[in-house]
Amino acid sequence: MIGRLNHVAIAVKDLAAATSVYKNALGAVLTDPVEQPEHGVTVVFVTLPNTKIEFLEPLGANSPIAKFLEKFPDGGIHHVCYEVDDILAARDKLKEQGARVLGDGNPKIGAHGKPVLFLHPKDFCGTLTELEQA
Ligand code: CO
Repeated sequence: MIGRLNHVAIAVKDLAAATSVYKNALGAVLTDPVEQPEHGVTVVFVTLPNTKIEFLEPLGANSPIAKFLEKFPDGGIHHVCYEVDDILAARDKLKEQGARVLGDGNPKIGAHGKPVLFLHPKDFCGTLTELEQA
């Protein structure tokens, strides 16, 4: 079921500082920031040869990453995202096995315009896990 690692997401308080480190110290290629009010984040992608890093900065008062940054003020790995061929089949199989799907259980359109779901960190090694339709 599990496919390619689509991205690793890193939550940061200061997107400009984070992207400058990746650009200047690591020589990374970055996208421009995109505000995603429906997800409560501003996003920048770092394009790597084999995957992507997704920087997330809180946007708005009810950002889902605000709590995470209270706990980890320096920022940190927020989630990993794996591609699956059939997101609904993957969801149904995982639910059958007792995994908890966050939200109402229906895929939402994610940062790449494709359906995504999030799985409870307690069921996946303490790591918030995103599935994206390949
Ligand atoms: Co993501």
